[in-house]
Amino acid sequence: MSRYYATTPIYYVNDEPHIGHAYTTIVADAVTRWHRLLGEDVKFLTGTDEHGLKVQQAAAAAGMDPQVFADGIAPRFAAAWESLGIANDDFIRTTEPRHYAAVTELLQRCYDAGDIELDHYRGKYCVRCEAYYTDDELLPANPADGGQSPGLCPIHKTPVDVLEEENYFFRLSRFEQRLLEWYAAHPGAIVPEFRGNEALGLIRSGLKDFSVSRTSLTWGVPLPWDPAHVTYVWFDALTNYLSAAGFGRDETEFAGWWPADVHFIGKDIIRFHCVYWPAMLMSAGIEPPRRYAVGGWLLVDNEKMSKSTGNVVKPLDLVDVVGVDGLRYYVLADTPYGNDGDFTLDGIVGRYNADLANNLGNLTSRVATVVGSKCGGHGPRPSTEGPLAGAAESAVAAATAAWDEIAPHRALEATWGLIRATNAHLEVNEPWKSEPGPEVERVLGDAVEALRIVTILASPALPATAQRIWERLGLPGAVADQRVPADVAWGRYPGGLTVTKGAPLFPRIKP
Ligand code: MSP
Repeated sequence: MSRYYATTPIYYVNDEPHIGHAYTTIVADAVTRWHRLLGEDVKFLTGTDEHGLKVQQAAAAAGMDPQVFADGIAPRFAAAWESLGIANDDFIRTTEPRHYAAVTELLQRCYDAGDIELDHYRGKYCVRCEAYYTDDELLPANPADGGQSPGLCPIHKTPVDVLEEENYFFRLSRFEQRLLEWYAAHPGAIVPEFRGNEALGLIRSGLKDFSVSRTSLTWGVPLPWDPAHVTYVWFDALTNYLSAAGFGRDETEFAGWWPADVHFIGKDIIRFHCVYWPAMLMSAGIEPPRRYAVGGWLLVDNEKMSKSTGNVVKPLDLVDVVGVDGLRYYVLADTPYGNDGDFTLDGIVGRYNADLANNLGNLTSRVATVVGSKCGGHGPRPSTEGPLAGAAESAVAAATAAWDEIAPHRALEATWGLIRATNAHLEVNEPWKSEPGPEVERVLGDAVEALRIVTILASPALPATAQRIWERLGLPGAVADQRVPADVAWGRYPGGLTVTKGAPLFPRIKP
């Protein structure tokens, strides 16, 4: 069985889970659910990033020990993911012993390869990004603070600090050519393509060595050869992808899972994932991951959501409005993956009413109602080459290609195309006006079969709803246990199963 190892970023525990974190995690969850339908052995990893200055400062501000502080927040991420139907197989915390083992091993390998060296550095640092910036990357200081600040972080627009330290440096500058060659040999390694061009641009504009340790910080993994230094937060964080796959602990397990098939990330962390990370791995003699899927940001009033801007939207508040699957569907379908999306309450309610209440919900209830009134409550067998068979075949082909390219919005557009075709099939034939008999059976048999296929195709996005529809069609077992392509082939609905109506799946919401 082929294996599929997918990861999300690990989230800083200085913040509560918000819709931006949920976005990346839901996309990864839906794509990995699709790969489970393909019959692959999936390992889906998420977790929390618990070291570094940012977390140390947040803990200090709360008057807490950083470990106790992290122990309080990490379970909130795990609980948020559980309530959003996220089916992760593992949850890594960077404070776990298995992670310390992997970081120590990776550092030692890069050090032994001669790519980590002691050096002196003075630079401008944004604690919130946990990154140094060069003068040309910074925004000019605000005259309002008397020109005191050395410049503003381009992401947070807050003053950076000047840090001066004797640090160990990773010689990233040595990897420019090797990285360009790797990307040239692996076209499509970053999706969507325009995000790949951003990464190549960063490499071509010249790579600077980066510091991998701090002496000014205590909250992190000590360097194995010089424990007065602790590991820089990004070197530490990126290694989580290896830790959870057995690196530094179980070489057989590691060989089975690595290279990872895809790292899902946000556009803000391209440099770390698509430039630093493959270079670190090359230095240590480890194959880079196969692919990076880069999402845009969900913006609120054109600003990135964050605690300090006060524009945080909590996923669970939206679940109260549109339900778990309503929220999942919205983030997957509304924004073409890779682009920024502007989040609004009107937008989420509008999508819910149009696509879920009117299209999918309406189709399910119509099919069940007419099967009840005209076919004695038993779903008829589909015709061999019914008028919807072609529409189903195209939807399956388009959805398969789109999930493979990590374009959930297109996969769902293809799936909803089949829903619309099935609703149109009912409207044209108006089986509710006909007398029971072979003609009505033919129309309804095809509609039930199309809905069965829709249910499988939609299940990565709407896992709970898909299971409810599956059961209403009288189908046994779990929709998640179906296999693509075998079970989405036309004509698999056996006929004669009891179809039940049930309460509306998506009651309309007043805008
Ligand atoms: N801890 C680092 C990642 C280390 S991965 C080895 C980090 N954490 S974070 O919690 O600040 O953000 C992680 C990711 O959350 C971002 O890269 C992005 O994928 C996602 N998002 C955070 N805010 C977001 C939005 N407003 N919109 C969409 N995604 C956003 O960076």
